[in-house]
Amino acid sequence: MHRTKIDLPESKRIPIVFLLNQALAGLIDLQLQAKQAHWNVKGPNFIALHELFDTVSADAAVFADSVAERIAALGGQAEGTVNVVGSHTTLPVYPVEIVAECDHIDSLSTSMASIGKSIRGAIGRAVELNDADTADLFTEVSRELDKKLWFVESHLHRNP
Ligand SMILES: [Fe+2]
Repeated sequence: MHRTKIDLPESKRIPIVFLLNQALAGLIDLQLQAKQAHWNVKGPNFIALHELFDTVSADAAVFADSVAERIAALGGQAEGTVNVVGSHTTLPVYPVEIVAECDHIDSLSTSMASIGKSIRGAIGRAVELNDADTADLFTEVSRELDKKLWFVESHLHRNP
C-alpha cells in the first residue's frame, strides 16, 4: 500500500482494495465481452443490439475507471492489465464463436448478472469495513448494471 493521509486505517483499506480489484477485473472483462458482442452479433435487430452492446462496453469502461481511481485514492495499486484481469475475473468465459442475436443476448446478460451479483455482495463488505464511499460506488455500479441488464434482456421478450 502507498502512503496516504486518508483517515481510513490500512487494516481496512487492504481488504477494500482487494474487493475493488476483484470488481475492476470483472468490469474490464465485461467491457471486452460487450465489445465482442458489438462486433460479431448478426440478425434482424442488428443495429439496435450493435449499439446497445457498445453502450454496455462504454459503461463498463467508465465504471472500471472509477473503481481503479478509488483504489489509487485508498493508497492501493490498481491491477488492470489483461493478464491480471484474465486470472482474477470470475465472469463466465465468453464464447468467441457465437453470432446469433439470441446467443449474444444470453451470454452477455449472464455475464452482466454475474458481475452485478458480485458487486452487490461487495456493497455489504464495504459497509462492514466502514467505507461508505466505496459502498456508494459499488451501489452506483450495480444499479447501473441492473438497468443495462434490463435493456439487454428486454430483447428476449415475446408477446403471448
Ligand atoms: Fe464499434
